[in-house]
Amino acid sequence: MKRIIFIIISLILMSSCSSRKTEISSPNKNIHLSFNIDDEGFMSYNIKVGDSIFIDDSQLGFEAKDGLNLSNSFEITKTEFSSKDETWEQIWGENKVIRNHYNEMAVHLANEDSIFLIMRFRLFDDGVGFRYEYRVKDTDKIILTNELTTFNIKGEGTSWSIPASFETYELLYRTLPLDEVDNANTPFTFKTTSQSIYASIHEAALTDFPEMTLRLRLTKDERQKAKDKSRHFDKLSDRQFRVQSSEFKVQLAPYPNKTKAVFENDNFISPWRTIQISDKAVGLINSNLILNLNEPCVLEGDLSWIKPMKYVGIWWGMHLGVESWTMDERHGATTENAKRYIDFAAANNIDAVLFEGWNVGWESWIGTSETQGESHSQEFDYTQAYADFDIDEIMRYAKEKGIEVIGHHETGGDIISYENQLEETYRWSKEKGINCVKTGYAGSLPNEHNHHGQYNVCHYRKVVETAAKHKITLDVHEPIKPTGIRRTYPNMMTREGARGMEWNAWSEGNPPEHHVMLPFTRLLAGPLDYTPGTFDILFENTRNSPLRKKWNGNDKGNSRVNTTLAKQLANWVILYSPLQMASDMIEHYEGHPAFQFFRDFNPDCDWSEALQGEPGEYVAIVRRAGEDFFLGATTDGEAREIAIPLTFLEKGKQYEATIYADGDDAHWETNPISYKIERKTLNCSDTLFIKMAAGGGCAVRFKTLGF
Ligand code: NOJ
Ligand code: CA
Repeated sequence: MKRIIFIIISLILMSSCSSRKTEISSPNKNIHLSFNIDDEGFMSYNIKVGDSIFIDDSQLGFEAKDGLNLSNSFEITKTEFSSKDETWEQIWGENKVIRNHYNEMAVHLANEDSIFLIMRFRLFDDGVGFRYEYRVKDTDKIILTNELTTFNIKGEGTSWSIPASFETYELLYRTLPLDEVDNANTPFTFKTTSQSIYASIHEAALTDFPEMTLRLRLTKDERQKAKDKSRHFDKLSDRQFRVQSSEFKVQLAPYPNKTKAVFENDNFISPWRTIQISDKAVGLINSNLILNLNEPCVLEGDLSWIKPMKYVGIWWGMHLGVESWTMDERHGATTENAKRYIDFAAANNIDAVLFEGWNVGWESWIGTSETQGESHSQEFDYTQAYADFDIDEIMRYAKEKGIEVIGHHETGGDIISYENQLEETYRWSKEKGINCVKTGYAGSLPNEHNHHGQYNVCHYRKVVETAAKHKITLDVHEPIKPTGIRRTYPNMMTREGARGMEWNAWSEGNPPEHHVMLPFTRLLAGPLDYTPGTFDILFENTRNSPLRKKWNGNDKGNSRVNTTLAKQLANWVILYSPLQMASDMIEHYEGHPAFQFFRDFNPDCDWSEALQGEPGEYVAIVRRAGEDFFLGATTDGEAREIAIPLTFLEKGKQYEATIYADGDDAHWETNPISYKIERKTLNCSDTLFIKMAAGGGCAVRFKTLGF
């Protein structure tokens, strides 16, 4: 009898649940998502902001091998609604305290092929996340061949992105009308014309999956062809979906055999597909959506071994060509030079020193090898120092001076060799006293794998876990783009994944707009080890050095940095990295008054706010670290004046502001070194007027003077 009553109650509950609308709104009721299923059981969603459609009907689902039907014939079995409003803390980050406030809708579906799916949607005030949770009955392997998800952006708009590439993110940004972006990587940032909504498409919690890029379903050329063929183009349909001009489809990074993802069991969960939404461009920067969609920290116990640091390193000299990674007459990482850097760090309130070119194997690396591009048999050895780098003595000296050493592992892309050495390498490093390692993947991957496929995503995860096991913090170059896993593994501190400072040493460099693109695009995903801080902007001290050798095919010998000096300082604040480097050779900082900003800078901030800005034009960001505030403002190739109300300063307190500004005659192209330092006493009712030169910026330290 009890059993029958239970079944009846369940049936009533189920039917009442399934009859509820599959719609959900954000807590502030501004964003609305609707999930739909058509007659053939194909799934779609759309999103409204306010009363207007923002993302029009867009497709959902996957395609898979072996006849698995992951895309249609679905029926809803139940829909669950829930909400969360919590505050959580992280040990480091732009903000240490974060509110996680959302409404969730979990749509349970099944089809006649025994595929069970939960479509999980979370709506926040700052955007939307959704993911797929599939289970396939009686299967022990799932091979995905295609993701069907689209983002059908309504109407016209402007976008800021880098092109899609499964090999690199070290590309320049484009400002393009939405319907002219054939393909793009994420974060893909855009603004709609009619509603003036800023948004950015990305993914969160990418852990065992290939990366997602975007491709227009019909490129401009394809649309034109279709138009030529049919005067009724507007009525053309592709399945039920009208192919609109700005409908982007997910492209997953493939395996060499063109499949996309493999799971050796009966289920998989996709990363979250995310859309950050705001009425202001800076609202995207202030959003915590990506972190909120990641799992909480899994590391237990005392985590004081994970700490933000400022660092200098034996690095820039190699990129300029006056030093080398290999052990020759220009070798950078010698014992003597290492000690010089340690002394400099100790004397300048800098926590750590990075050494590149310290270990054997560089002779066959793609960048230094005589026969560039060919494959070589010699491997990097991550536990074998060059003979002129006395690691034990250097570690002893660093410890004595209270300086951390950042180890370096360039893999050249040979992840098979790196994985073989991984466990022993991290054990050995920790034993030597190395608590932080920079890795790099400059070179092709083995067996024709690309850099961003599932194979490499899993490799990166393995490195993060191994490093965590040995209590080592990571700075990854040539990484997978950040998707917020730093919340789960806070030892995964920072990464590159953008055209960083290095490009200025040996190419046409990064244009002035680059640094005001990054905060609205790449940095929405997570910290960036851009390595700002070149003071010898025109390479006056190194260009004609007798030591200088071009080591890279892009080097035409006329490179320089395309900013003013003040902009270099401001980028230490704006381009957020908890491991923040002053990247120039230390002799260029010695005795330089503007270097005081880096001495005073604290990379361990507690709170941040992007105050003003437009992608590719300008930006102003403030961070609080302990009692101090640090403000950075930068502009593109245009000179600008901005007014910043200092309402973020603590009420009632006076602050000594040290302002590092462009000189009156500064210009990134013709007079980049001109700067001035001013001191003012300010409080929260003041407004700071900042004048930035073309390609310039301004950095301010606010030091409390008390009440
Ligand atoms: C590329 C990295 O981005 C750079 O920082 C490093 O110096 C070289 N690879 C060599 O590892
Ligand atoms: Ca790089």
